[in-house]
Amino acid sequence: MLVVPKLKVGVLSGGTSSERPISLRSGKAVLNGLKKSGFSVLRIDPKDSHKTRKALRRIDLAFIALHGKGGEDGTIQSRLEKAKIPYVGSNPKGSRLAIDKAASKRIFERSGIPTPSWRTFSKRNWKELESFPTPFFVKPIDDGSSIGVFLIEDFPQSVEKLIHALVEYPLLLAERRIEGREFTVGILGKRALPVVELKPRGEFYDYHCKYTKGMTEYLVPAPIPDAWRRRFQQLALKAHQALGLRDFSRIDLMADSEGNPYVLEANTIPGFTELSLLPKAAKEAGISFEELCSQLVRMAWKRRNGKA
Ligand SMILES: Nc1ncnc2c1ncn2[C@@H]1O[C@H](COP(=O)(O)OP(=O)(O)O)[C@@H](O)[C@H]1O
Ligand SMILES: [Mg+2]
Repeated sequence: MLVVPKLKVGVLSGGTSSERPISLRSGKAVLNGLKKSGFSVLRIDPKDSHKTRKALRRIDLAFIALHGKGGEDGTIQSRLEKAKIPYVGSNPKGSRLAIDKAASKRIFERSGIPTPSWRTFSKRNWKELESFPTPFFVKPIDDGSSIGVFLIEDFPQSVEKLIHALVEYPLLLAERRIEGREFTVGILGKRALPVVELKPRGEFYDYHCKYTKGMTEYLVPAPIPDAWRRRFQQLALKAHQALGLRDFSRIDLMADSEGNPYVLEANTIPGFTELSLLPKAAKEAGISFEELCSQLVRMAWKRRNGKA
């Protein structure tokens, strides 16, 4: 095992994205996990730029527990690169690609990774959606936590909803709905963790189902045939690699009744409380939350020393 000196790890959480409340929860959990692993820790909220500037000078390494814009999109990663502070997770380029669902899907298609058929639309051409086969999902290109995601079953009846969404987001993604079961696969280092199945009580895994206790049933490991498990894990790893991601990620996918998987998206900084999906999958693989946090820190530290 790599011996890590007493590092001071800055845990970045909060920020200004729509996912701030979730990030605060992730940050708190990571802070505790790292403390228990013996690291010295400092909580940093990039919302306060003056304090952040000062705090960054005091740390050896950063653990980014920010979700969404500013934290998951390469911005903070570029800043840390410039400041020569090693950090956990994907580099600016990988982060930028993964947060952009349209860019990710283009790469999936080029890499032979199945993803539901899709198109983007704006105020200028939204009427063309009339010919896009229903039912389909509409989602922001670069938001997370299911914020702004909705299902369209009938185009004429959904016009108002679409216009409203276009006020909020200038560019949106329309994506064919895959009917079937939902799964997510965490990647840690270079391997896929056990597959998790999600059974939301709502129509789909929306914000409410994601963050309200009892609204979703999580099956770890997913009760699926071995052949499905292998296929999902291979595909998740392929998606992680195709986007050029690092250290960890969580790949969301749907599978139809025959078990044919379709990758929806990659999350470079997935939820990180002890009850979040990647930590749940790690636990199933025998990796405790503390161990998971410290493994990630070790990966980033090793890279800094040019060994990975
Ligand atoms: N094409 C689709 N078919 C079926 N369900 C979908 C599809 N796209 C999204 N969903 C549902 O919406 C949720 C959020 O979509 P996702 O693409 O993962 O975006 P987010 O970044 O908000 O998590 C998914 O977890 C799933 O329940
Ligand atoms: Mg998702």
